[in-house]
Formats: sequence, structure tokens, C-alpha cells
Amino acid sequence: MSYVIVLDFGAQYNHLIARRVREARIFCEVLPGDTPGHEILSKKPDALILSGGPASVFAPDAPSMDESLLSQGIPVLGICYGMQLMTRLLGGQVEPATKREYGRTFMERQGEGPLLRNIPKDSTVWMSHGDAVLREPEGFQVIATTSTTPIAAMANPTRNLWAVQYHPEVHHTPEGQQMLRNFLYDIAHLTPDWDPKDRVEEGVRQIQSAVGTGRALVALSGGVDSAVAAALAHRAIGDRLTAVLIDHGLMREGEIEEVVAAFPDLDLRVEHADQQFLEALNGVRDPEAKRKIIGREFIRAFERARELVGPVAHLIQGTVYPDVIESGGGKGSTIKSHHNVGGMPEDADFTIVEPLRWFFKDEVRELGTALGLPDTIVWRQPFPGPGLAVRIVGEVTPEALMMVRQADLIIRQEVRRAGLEREIWQAFAVLLDVRSVGVMGDGRTYGKPIVIRAVESQDGMTADWVRLGPDLLERMAARVVGEVPGVNRVVYDITSKPPGTIEWE
Ligand code: XMP
Repeated sequence: MSYVIVLDFGAQYNHLIARRVREARIFCEVLPGDTPGHEILSKKPDALILSGGPASVFAPDAPSMDESLLSQGIPVLGICYGMQLMTRLLGGQVEPATKREYGRTFMERQGEGPLLRNIPKDSTVWMSHGDAVLREPEGFQVIATTSTTPIAAMANPTRNLWAVQYHPEVHHTPEGQQMLRNFLYDIAHLTPDWDPKDRVEEGVRQIQSAVGTGRALVALSGGVDSAVAAALAHRAIGDRLTAVLIDHGLMREGEIEEVVAAFPDLDLRVEHADQQFLEALNGVRDPEAKRKIIGREFIRAFERARELVGPVAHLIQGTVYPDVIESGGGKGSTIKSHHNVGGMPEDADFTIVEPLRWFFKDEVRELGTALGLPDTIVWRQPFPGPGLAVRIVGEVTPEALMMVRQADLIIRQEVRRAGLEREIWQAFAVLLDVRSVGVMGDGRTYGKPIVIRAVESQDGMTADWVRLGPDLLERMAARVVGEVPGVNRVVYDITSKPPGTIEWE
């Protein structure tokens, strides 16, 4: 199987590079930039990509790489910081930043080399850099320029080294994928042979060899990841698998029933703990405190369920690749303490098995369909582990839960009716703890607002708000105000991520 390694120099959106390579149907893994060269070579990559990063190559602690990787004949593509690092290591000249270049830029291709083949002579690219390459290393040719960046791309075909200053991985570079395909297919001669559907048997074998003749437990959350992990594990070890579904009372309408119905042959135990969660959340308003309490109560409920199941050595977990990348190295700051139901309990004497740790969300969906899971599960929108609790700003009360659950159902119904369910990453309701004055019938109301949140995303790490049509928004608003007691106003969240996050808490 074709295999590419992305060396990570810390840019926030490096996972997008891996995503684009996977979209080209090539398997790809992200490793820290300073991974020792022998370790990288022992994995026998067919090509390397050096990512962007926020540092300046002139900074004293600037991230670097094992230089010998540039002389192995392995095709290497440097992107942004990756290009500057390559330049520095190979004796070219990088100019320290005098100003930043940020945003859309016109780029002019020079010559007819393979990297920019089939890309118009003038195209738009996305730039985000301070330092720039002033003189290319010996043996390189300049293959593209922009008005502010004379060396926007460069190549040394003899040494199989290639580099671009712009970001091909973002949507703002329309020809970015074409350039990556050129690199992967024509320069590195890779065959597009990564097909998540083909991975079913491999996943089954992996689980079988990990679990042996023992038994395993899987925590179902209602989300697609844990459902696909469970389906795969069930195929692998049959009735030696027990699934636990904690009903924390923070689920969407009908969710528990749908999950139970999707797994008719699975030994599935539902642990009802809604009262316990509600009591623990009583009076708590702080988002992080809410998340921590839910995490703690989840472990308690899980431990109880586990005692009923008896001795089990393995825990199957639906960790997906963005989780793996996000937790890699702990470089980023904690924005929210994510609660992954599959990830509990940390202290336990389980051996964790993660059959989906190489998959992106859309790939998990392909796998789920190949495993025969129903569309209601496979195309279910992602749902946070702490559930509706993080969609109620302020205290979680039975009334608030009822309001947000009803509003959520209406929004989901209308999105489905409009045929947008698969296009939208998530569409849901958030209940705010403020009041405003309204008028209904002849009377004054003093009720709470519901926020409609709808975002497009590929993996939840970045997101754009969806431009829902006014008719659809109007229908949602009319229904929410008309059908959800206590709500008298509906507002629409038009914040992307960043700077916002998808959930409100
Ligand atoms: P944010 O709000 O961080 O969410 O932009 C990104 C994606 O992650 C989901 N999310 C969670 N998923 N446990 C999860 O399993 C969590 O604690 C959690 N918090 C947020 C969110 O729904 C979105 O898809």
C-alpha cells in the first residue's frame, strides 16, 4: 500500500494535509517533525511532506528535522515552513520577515515542470507566512512567483525535492489538490490504493489478534465512531463482545432507542443513570465544571455496568484519527476538555483496542456502511460526549433539557426535510440563559432564546457556518417558538471556527 508521512512542524491545520492526501486515496500518517530519521526510514515511506508551522526558522528553538531525509531519493514536498526549512538545511537563503503575507494571492507558474502541471499559468493561492525564501538552494529552479514572493515554489527534480510557499491544503487554494495529486501520482508514482471499505477484514483481524480468546467491552455513545467500532468488533469476536450504553439523560430525542434498534444481535446493556447525572449537575453553571462532572459520573456508571458484565480484559474504543492528531505531543492548549465516552475509564486495567485510529470521520462512515449499519447511525451527526449539557448555557435542569431537546428535534427534522442532512456537519439548538420580552397572542412573554447552530466541516477541527436559506430558517424559528414552551425568540449563530467553537460550551 502506498504510504506517505507528513512531518508536523506545528501549524494548526496540518491535519488538513493528511486529509487531502487521504482524499487522493493514499494512506498517510502525521509524525512529529523531529522524529529521528532512522525511525522514519524504518517505516519505509514512499514520500514525505514537510508541513507548515508558526515558528521562524531563525528562532533559537525552531523545529527542525533529520537533514539526511533530504538525501535518500525519497520524494519530499515542503509546504510553507517546510519549504523554508528545506532551504535553510540545503544552503539557500531565507529572509527574515519584514512583513507578513496573509490571504489570497495570485501566483504565476514558471515553466512546465511536473509539480504544477495542469494548473493554469495564473492561479490563486493562499499565503500565510512571515519569512520567505530569498535565494533557492543550489540545484533548485524557481517554478512559481507572486508579486510579493519571488520564490513561491521551487523544485530540484534530480534530488526529488519540491516545495511551495503557499498552502495547498486549504480550500482557498483552488488548485491545491491538483498540485498534491501531481506530487503523489506523477512525481512519487504512487497508486491510489487506500480504500477504507477494504479495511474491514484488516480491522477484524486486528481486533481478533488483540482480544485473543478473551472478552471485550465497548462503550456505545450514540455517535457514529463508537457504533462503527462496535460493529467491527462484533464481526470480529461475536458474542464475546458486550456493549454498554450509558443513558446519562443528556441524549437527543429517540437516540437510545435508535442505537438499540441498530444492533439487534449485540449483547447491549443500557445503564440508566439520568437521575445520577442530573443530581450531580445540579446548580453547576461553569462549562468546564459541567464537563468534568459528566466525565466523572460517566466513569461511575461505566464501572457499575462493568461489574454486572464480569471480567473483561479489553476495551474497544472508537478513537478516530483527528483525536490522535489532536492529542499528539500535547503541543496545543486545551480549549475544551473533551469527553470521549469510549475513552473511559483511564485508570482501568483494560487493554485498549482502537480499530479506527487511522480513520477520518468520512472514512469511518464508509466503513460503517460496508459493515451494514443503517443510515440512521452512519449518517448521524456528531454529538459531543457530554451531550445536551454543553448545549444548555448555564444550569442543566429537567426543563432546560426538555426545551433544548425539543428544539434540537425540530431543527434536525427541518434539515432532513430540506435534504441537507448529509451536507451539514452538525445542525442543532443551543438554549441560552437570558430572557427577552416577546408578544404572543395578546400577551407579553418573557422567555428564553434558542440559538440555531449549523456548521459545515470535514472533521470538526475547523468549521464554517452554513448559509441556510431564509425560508428554512423561518420555518425552524416559527416551529421552535410555537412548539417549545418557554422559548420566545430564535437567533442564528454566524460564527465560524475559529474564532468560535462548534459547541457553545
Ligand atoms: P468544538 O465545540 O470543540 O467541537 O468546536 C468540535 C467537535 O467535537 C464535538 N465535541 C465533542 N465530542 N466529546 C466528544 O466526543 C466532547 O466532549 C466534545 N465536545 C465537542 C463537537 O460536537 C464537534 O463536532
